[in-house]
Amino acid sequence: MTGSKAIGIDIGGTGIKGAVVDLDTGELVSDRHKVKTPDGGAPADILAATVELLSRLDGADGPALPVGVCFPAIVKRGLTLSAANISSEWIGLPAEQLFEDELGRDIRFINDADAAGIAEQRYGAAADVEGLVILTTLGTGIGSAFLNDGVLVPNTELGHLEIDGFDAESRAAYSAMEREDLSWEDWAKRLQRYYGVVEALFSPDLFVVGGGVSKHHEQFLPLLDLQTPIVPAVHRNNAGILGAASLTRH
Ligand code: BGC
Repeated sequence: MTGSKAIGIDIGGTGIKGAVVDLDTGELVSDRHKVKTPDGGAPADILAATVELLSRLDGADGPALPVGVCFPAIVKRGLTLSAANISSEWIGLPAEQLFEDELGRDIRFINDADAAGIAEQRYGAAADVEGLVILTTLGTGIGSAFLNDGVLVPNTELGHLEIDGFDAESRAAYSAMEREDLSWEDWAKRLQRYYGVVEALFSPDLFVVGGGVSKHHEQFLPLLDLQTPIVPAVHRNNAGILGAASLTRH
């Protein structure tokens, strides 16, 4: 019986991660495997690395599981349409079709933050929340997912709001904290400005904060003063895998 299992693959700027997911429980039922993202992030190289990762995840003799892939770009009707932190060769590429042809099965291709939003809505911090949940992932860039009464509005790209003359993610992503060696307090001031603008524009009912750094949420979330409740994501680094896998079901 493979009906309740799928493979989720999360392609990022530094690593490509994947695991088998039980879609009923939202749990990983295999080890999480990871390969390094090839330098330059060109489509052919990423595809080859994904094939290698998938060969480690597929059961030796079982039927091929469905695969969901999430990616750090706008994804519309299977096309990747932007490339903020990845090779510009992805812009305008029929990525879903290319992956289907190379991997020989149906694929769901989705933006990485949207996948994380779906994971939190189905198995995490956004489950059963009424109204508008805005999930943001704080990593190399800032990704965003809008879930209104549980329905995803894809490709919101709030990392690229222009705030104080800057592309917001260049100031407020976790990579900015690392690059500029900011203290938690100084980074939190930037997050305050960022979430303050997002809140004023969209009046959400809940913010969910994902990305690996959210495991340190007690260092920065209490420093924020917002009208909207703000909570850490439950799934953090596995959210993309979970969300991408779970989308294969519908
Ligand atoms: C990209 C988004 C992505 C986010 C997180 C941004 O730079 O434009 O598509 O979701 O980074 O990876």
